[in-house]
Amino acid sequence: MLDLILRNCTLADGRTGIDIGIEAGRIIAVTPHLAATADSIIDVEGQLVTAPFVDAHFHMDSTLSYGLPRVNESGTLLEGIALWGELKPLLTQEMLVERALAYCDWAVAKGLLAIRSHVDVCDPRLLAVEALLYVREKVKPYLDLQLVAFPQDGVLRAPGALANLIRALDMGVDVVGGIPHFERTMSEGAESVRILCELAAARGLRVDMHCDESDDPMSRHIETLALHAQRLGLQGRVTGSHLTSMHSMDNYYVSKLIPLIREAGVAAIANPLINITLQGRHDTYPKRRGMTRVPELMAAGVTVAFGHDCVMDPWYPLGSADMLEVAQMGLHVAQMTGQDAMRACFNAVTTAPATILGLEGYGIAVGCKADMVVLQARDCVEAIRLRATRLMVIRAGKVISLTPAATAMVDLPGRSSKVDWMVRR
Ligand code: FE2
Repeated sequence: MLDLILRNCTLADGRTGIDIGIEAGRIIAVTPHLAATADSIIDVEGQLVTAPFVDAHFHMDSTLSYGLPRVNESGTLLEGIALWGELKPLLTQEMLVERALAYCDWAVAKGLLAIRSHVDVCDPRLLAVEALLYVREKVKPYLDLQLVAFPQDGVLRAPGALANLIRALDMGVDVVGGIPHFERTMSEGAESVRILCELAAARGLRVDMHCDESDDPMSRHIETLALHAQRLGLQGRVTGSHLTSMHSMDNYYVSKLIPLIREAGVAAIANPLINITLQGRHDTYPKRRGMTRVPELMAAGVTVAFGHDCVMDPWYPLGSADMLEVAQMGLHVAQMTGQDAMRACFNAVTTAPATILGLEGYGIAVGCKADMVVLQARDCVEAIRLRATRLMVIRAGKVISLTPAATAMVDLPGRSSKVDWMVRR
């Protein structure tokens, strides 16, 4: 007797009519016509069942603070950083915890069950670090939260930032962050990358740096990040987040750079919602898109994820923890409209970020954790198109969120019909 069987599932790889058997929080069968009984059997009627969404790049210490103490009028990255500087002294642990937990509720309802969040370590009180370490434990039963020690004001530029960052790691923060393009000079940026990679190597930690989030084509810290990843044997454990300067670089240099990134086993995270709004702000027309070269990185074999980055904070006024919205924006900005390309955009909010976070037991396969989402869609492309309703979210074999199917009744002259937005094939 199993704990749960989901019958008649469609999987992201295209298989249909699949039954998924679950016991003790793990998937023990993925097969047509599973001959077994269970405490609970759910017929999902051919809907898409996937492993949960994963957000590889988020800022949970600033989320849901929109309007505090004022809004970002220019909409630029630099005003966002200045505004965050105004907000930081006003933060309390209670506010941080309350907002982070509220966001995690949104995430669960949207089938987003793993998040890598950067946490600013430049405030010597490390209030946000303490708050998010508490939240990490609190949400552990239903959401995997990985924390990055992020020196927002520059690990060399901000007094005491390196010591604070080391203290945050000592307190249990998981990943080493950085922001080389915000250091005073290109050479200090490069030096910050060296210091932080060596720190990560010495402690056996992963690295995820905000890297070259700039329209300046000469911002080339990703080159240095790849160098130290390779030199220190950190292949597969280092990520460059944003990498927007690559959008503005000349093609000849990029033809050298992308193979360097690939050789060094460095992953890339684009944040399409944020970079389409923050970058290109100094342009008149044509305005640059400000997203890194996603299809080219993917074609070279680099692991590429799409992150949400911000939801209702000093940098971005919108968002709802919906990784399908993120995938949809990434697809549009990168012009990835071919069938394989659209499926790659779905992978960029599921399997690719799971690889970047190093999640154990991720996927819909025998032996994996019984974490999954039932979507009101028949395939990955339809899921992106519809930003499909998360009918059911399952964690460790238990249903933790239910959302009614999206539908509408239209009442027209001579015609009434139920609309469900799916094209029947
Ligand atoms: Fe970020």
